Amino acid sequence: KYQAVIFDLDGVICSTDQYHYQAWKAVADELNIPFDETVNHRLRGVSRMESFEIILEKYDAEMSREEKVSWTEKKNTIYKELLKNMRTADLSEEVKTTLDTLRAQGLLLAIGSSSKNAGFILKQIGLGDYFDAVSDGNNITKSKPDPEVFLKAAKYLGKEPKDCLVVEDAKAGVQAAKAGGMDCAAVGEAVKCKLADYQLSTFSQLLEAVKNSTKGACTK
Ligand code: G6P
Ligand code: MG
Repeated sequence: KYQAVIFDLDGVICSTDQYHYQAWKAVADELNIPFDETVNHRLRGVSRMESFEIILEKYDAEMSREEKVSWTEKKNTIYKELLKNMRTADLSEEVKTTLDTLRAQGLLLAIGSSSKNAGFILKQIGLGDYFDAVSDGNNITKSKPDPEVFLKAAKYLGKEPKDCLVVEDAKAGVQAAKAGGMDCAAVGEAVKCKLADYQLSTFSQLLEAVKNSTKGACTK
């Protein structure tokens, strides 16, 4: 039986996709780099600088480290401004009820996110003080698919990796969980990832995965 559940934030607890897209799009437009949803898709779970490197694949000229830092800072300023639009209403009833149910069952709950804005986002959606631990982009040196962010989350909770279940929507995140010796439940596009132990078609199916611990597709 699991003792803790570690959640990715973006794309699992709430959706920030459109804001990331708008902010990167503004930067890419200014640099005359083609940028669309397909490229945006590849940025899921990937750190800010690594995301920019992916965008720069279609940039013809050279760019110095200082310039890269400055463009990623610009992206983040735009992104943070957009994040101010997030409200408690952006946390779905289904997600909140599922989290409350898991907690009532005695599980510890943590966040494991590559984002440096995790704290701000959690506050915006009304979960500022909710989780037992938050491991995010501010306390890691290696981003997913490296397991560091999840291993730190388990450590903050005082739990062994084998007693933790990770919930992820990105392939890099599923890989990170498995590399850390944790089980992983996939939601969204990550269900295609064969490495995942559970494929959830709804967030609340997580309750079944935790209850039965029978790996595979959870279907209702
Ligand atoms: C999450 C998102 C990624 C994003 C990363 C860093 O993992 O899925 O798309 O690049 O966080 O976010 P940040 O808020 O630190 O720029
Ligand atoms: Mg994600």
